[in-house]
Amino acid sequence: MGMINYSYIIIDDSTGKVGIIDPSWNSSDLELFLLNTDYKLDAVLLTHSHMDHVCGVDRLIAEYDASVYISAEEARYYDYRCTGQSVFRDHETIILGSLEINCLVTPGHTKGSTCYLVDGALFTGDTLFIEGCGICFGDGADPYEMYRSVQRLKGLDEDIKVFPAHSYGSSFGKTIRELYKSNIYFSIERMDQFVAFRQRANQNNIFDFK
Ligand SMILES: [Fe+2]
Repeated sequence: MGMINYSYIIIDDSTGKVGIIDPSWNSSDLELFLLNTDYKLDAVLLTHSHMDHVCGVDRLIAEYDASVYISAEEARYYDYRCTGQSVFRDHETIILGSLEINCLVTPGHTKGSTCYLVDGALFTGDTLFIEGCGICFGDGADPYEMYRSVQRLKGLDEDIKVFPAHSYGSSFGKTIRELYKSNIYFSIERMDQFVAFRQRANQNNIFDFK
């Protein structure tokens, strides 16, 4: 089976401005959506620079005059470049019409992975899944930073709903509160235990994020 990525469309009703999170294999569907509505693509928001999260960027940017946001750390470390690129640092805010999008830089899966918080919805990329957290192998990954990032997300308002880039069986939009039941990484308090479990040997499949 091929890899399935979820992109998200944020619409500011008051201005018709649109933000798209992680345009992926589905960029033609996203284009079709924009063509069939009066909404205007204003921002592309990247959670990180892995290929399956950015492969739709060029196609969209060739058609629309939008800014492409990525954390400064992610762009620097992986030398990611694209047309319309704009970088931010942790805690900075992106304005989309009347919406404020808060950028939480949550490294661990990659050096500058980011979660975007807007209007009670948290778009988590590969940092946090309903069922687990992102793998911490590979260039720029760090399970200790992932621990700190997960602790930070656990500290958010528990009514915030979580929208990851992949599903491993659960539906999206579960609250931070609900993740205490579905996500074992929320239950591990100690850093050494968290890291040992995340990096454990003999995982059946490294793309199984549980
Ligand atoms: Fe990734």
